[in-house]
Parts: sequence; structure tokens; C-alpha cells
Amino acid sequence: MTLAIDGGTPVREAPFPSVMDASGRTFGADEAAAAARAVASGVLWRVTGTEVAALEREFADYVGAAHAVASTSGTAALHLAVAAVDPAPGDEVIVPPITDFGTVIAVLACNAVPVFADVDPLTGCLTAESVAKCLSERTRAVIAVHLFGGAAPIDEIVALCRSRGVAVIEDCAQAYLTVPAGGDTIAGRRGAIGCFSLQQSKHISAGDGGLTVTDDPDLARRMRLFADKGWPRDTGERTHLFFGFNYRMNEMVGAVARVQLGRLAEVVAARRSVARRLVAELGELAGLRLPAEVDQHSFWLFPMIVDPDVLGASNAGFGKALAAEGIPVTAGYLDRPVYLTPAMTERRTYGGSAFPLTCPPASREFTYQAGDCPVAEDLIGRTLLVLQCNERFTDQDVTDIITAVRKVHGHYAK
Ligand SMILES: Cc1ncc(COP(=O)(O)O)c(C=O)c1O
Repeated sequence: MTLAIDGGTPVREAPFPSVMDASGRTFGADEAAAAARAVASGVLWRVTGTEVAALEREFADYVGAAHAVASTSGTAALHLAVAAVDPAPGDEVIVPPITDFGTVIAVLACNAVPVFADVDPLTGCLTAESVAKCLSERTRAVIAVHLFGGAAPIDEIVALCRSRGVAVIEDCAQAYLTVPAGGDTIAGRRGAIGCFSLQQSKHISAGDGGLTVTDDPDLARRMRLFADKGWPRDTGERTHLFFGFNYRMNEMVGAVARVQLGRLAEVVAARRSVARRLVAELGELAGLRLPAEVDQHSFWLFPMIVDPDVLGASNAGFGKALAAEGIPVTAGYLDRPVYLTPAMTERRTYGGSAFPLTCPPASREFTYQAGDCPVAEDLIGRTLLVLQCNERFTDQDVTDIITAVRKVHGHYAK
């Protein structure tokens, strides 16, 4: 069969359901009614409203945390978390190189230094070994990203960090209801703080929004105040206990997010069904590694690791051929690791200062260049392919993905 990329007929002409429009989202009449209810109440800010406060209670209960704090984005949720740890300028926070820039923004916004640790070649997540290599006397926190909905080895990272007084923050923006190895609590509940995003493409969404969870009442209070200008409204005083931002979620977002939370379990279950079929029907193809633990993963995306030597094509070549067959796929997920974006390589922080990546306040001059994390660079440049995965995919959609992957695989691996 001639590949579409060589002029053959594509497996699929029609678009797939997409998170970028209604076709791949679960927004419905209940969300519309919730937003209307917020508007009709006449109160759209959280301070005197009820929706965001209710969302915080409901989300905390849902994930089994003592506290949840709402904010305006996943980036804000991470900023709350790092700010609660309260690093001094130049202190270090270990982060992975394959993530959204929001993970790094949270560190820079606290005038801390992002230190990039390399990742596991199959999952793209931090490992305890890679984190251990990056620990220093200035390390204050690690942000472990559960990439694509697959779990980072969070218990091992927590065990490594505990005795050193280093806080572990879980970035669960892509990982609602992911179950890391070593227990049955979900991602976001093993580290000191878990951070979630309600951005358009996430499992549940309100357009933009963030949620941060913890069991620690001091961290929770710090985060609550940090999202509200350091203002301790619970005391009735108009004062500011420390520097903070206005990251208050508004009531319409809170109302919509409450409805979306009610859909979360079904969304994740539907994505796992899609993934289960992909694994069952593509799992034996030589040169392709698929996620092993379907019921622990939450499939924000469906990652595949290609072995170019066996497959006869790298991620880019295989991905281009698959895309020509009409399949929504991205090679590498990112164009480059986060540390190779101009913001990092040119140290574009505040004016021309490069602060806080300078010595002082950091222990040394921090610069970022190709070769810093070779495994991550290999994943992006050679081996990682990510397929869209969506709760609205029909059996026919999944069949088309399977047919196209088999077709392209048959061509290259022969
Ligand atoms: C892993 C990860 N961290 C952080 C973020 C930032 O979230 P937001 O876009 O809601 O600010 C995202 C999503 O965009 C993400 O995927």
C-alpha cells in the first residue's frame, strides 16, 4: 500500500475530535448553566462569591487532600507552590527539560534558578538518579512532572529529598487521576504539593485555571495568601503579610470547573479504553514501545517510543508519514527541550541582567546549552512520538489510528 506521503490514499480524511474546539471537549448544557448561575448571582469575584470556594472544597475532597487553593492557571498553581516553599533569590529548583514552560516560569518568578535534570528514556519523566546528580546545598525543591499522564517515580524522588529538606512539588497539569507506582494514591498526593491545570487542552477545563493541593495547613495558607496579594482576609485586617500576586480565580471559571470535575472519572476512563485498544493492537510491532500500565496512566497524550534502528525511521520521519495518513501526531512533543528556548539560552529574565541566573545571587553563573540533558534531547530529536488521545474518539477513530500506524510501520520496518 502506497503511503499517503508518497502519493497514496490517506487512511483518514476527516478530522479527529480535537481539544481545541467543541468536538473534543465535554462542555455542555450543565457548564453553560453553571456559568449563567454565576453571572446571575451578581458576584463574579471569589472573595464574596461561593463557586470558587465550593470548587476548592470539592477538589480537595475528590483527591483526598486537606486543602485546595484555586488560581488562574496551571502556571499560577505552580507559582503558588514554589512561593510557598519560599526560596531565596539564587536558590535552586530541579525541573525536567520536557515540560510546558509554565513549570520553569514558576521557578524564575520566585527568582530561583531552574536546574534541569535529565529524564527516563521511556517516560520522559525525572528519575531519582537524575535528580540526585543535580542536588546541591542550594536546592530547595524539585518539580516532578507526570508527563502526558504517565507517572514520574514520585515515591523514589520523595524518599531522596526528604532527608535533605527538599520539597517535592508534583506538576499534574497533564496527569489527573494518574496512579504512580508504589501505592494507590493519585499523582499530586505523594509530594508536599500537587498542581493541576484547567487550561483548554487538559482532561477537564474551564479555559484557564489552576488548582494546588496539600495536606500542610501552613503551605495552604501561604498559597492562599500568595494568590491574593498577601492579604489575610480571614483576619479582617487590610494588610499584606508578604509579597504576592492577584491570582484569584473568578466565579464563572469556578462554576464551570465544578461541573467539569464531575466528568473527570469518565474522561479518564474513556481515554484508558482508547489506550487499551492501541496497546492491544499495536503493542507487538517491532521498534515501537507503548505505555505499559494503562490503568495507572491518564493519557493526556498517548506517547510512543520508536527505535529508529529497528523501525527504519526516526520519530520525525515516522510522524510525518503518519500525519500524512490523517493521524494527529507530533514528533518529539516539543521542538526543543525547555532549556534550549531563547528565554533560557539568552537568559532573558529582567532587562539585560540575567538575574537570578547570575552569581550572586546564585552560587555560580547558570547557562543553558545543547548537551545539558542528552536523554531528553534524544527523545525529542529521535525517539518520541505523541498521538492525540481523547474521550470523544469513536471506535472508528481508534481503528483508523491503528490502521495508519500499521500501514506506516509496514512500510518502514520491512
Ligand atoms: C506539564 C505542564 N505544566 C504546566 C503547565 C502550565 O499550565 P497552564 O497552561 O494552565 O498555565 C502545563 C500546561 O500548559 C503543562 O502541561
